[in-house]
Amino acid sequence: MKVFHEKEALRSWRAALRSAGQTLALVPTMGALHRGHLSLIARAQQEADAVLVSIYVNPTQFNRANDLANYPRDPEGDRQLLEASGCDALFEPISLYRPGHASWVEVPSLAGTLCGRTRPGHFRGVATVVTKLFQIAQPEVALFGAKDLQQALLLTQMAADLDMPVRVLTAPTLREADGLAMSSRNRRLTPAQRLAAASIPRALAGAEATLRGGTTTAGTITDAVTRRLVDAGARIDYVSLVRPEDLLEIPPESPATPGLVLAIAAFFGATRLIDNVLLGSSGLDEALAEDP
Ligand code: PAF
Repeated sequence: MKVFHEKEALRSWRAALRSAGQTLALVPTMGALHRGHLSLIARAQQEADAVLVSIYVNPTQFNRANDLANYPRDPEGDRQLLEASGCDALFEPISLYRPGHASWVEVPSLAGTLCGRTRPGHFRGVATVVTKLFQIAQPEVALFGAKDLQQALLLTQMAADLDMPVRVLTAPTLREADGLAMSSRNRRLTPAQRLAAASIPRALAGAEATLRGGTTTAGTITDAVTRRLVDAGARIDYVSLVRPEDLLEIPPESPATPGLVLAIAAFFGATRLIDNVLLGSSGLDEALAEDP
């Protein structure tokens, strides 16, 4: 596996690939890699001749300094996982911003809701750093995980709106045996918080089961999910039922229907976790044993 710290060296490698007629898939990450990332790499290997993974904890997408400082980092472990995955190259820049950086990419229509409400500037940072990565690596394909649904939708919209010559693909969320969505942030949970965090997939599964049981409203679903998370000791950021295409929130009195997305952000201790399901097709209610 090639390792690049400088964008110029990466650009030369990329140019050589193109001369050889090879396509490139990019998997942008912030490191602390897990099986979810490996599944993105495996998918990327099906989509292009060569796979590049980037690891960069992007400071501009953190709106709290201590969240950035405490973001999990595991360069040695990451390197080993990447070598074993068969990925072709790693881009691990020291910084991606030059002094005086003053240009930003924004998708306001998708950035103002869900995570954007309590993380102002987050999606501007994400869209900007991903644009920079696209500019540097010029991949034909880029892969993002569905756990970060808002991010994936926003980046898909950004690439289409700005005529970026890259296919943005969203791959399914990978889950632990108890249903918890894989996330680098799970490493920061204490054993007790890790147990409590399993209330997220159970609450999502409960919502699926309620919907399957008959007619219900958005408010009934979000109230039940909120109660379940709070009972498990979570501090809620949001529990929202939204349309998958534009993340528009469904009013509480409106019917909850299959095809809507149930999205959650909740804190367990200081660790903020997110998850979502496309109602009616997640299969979570069948995959997880319901609480007695
Ligand atoms: O999902 C992430 O890990 C990050 O938001 C991304 C896409 C690598 C941009 O920094």
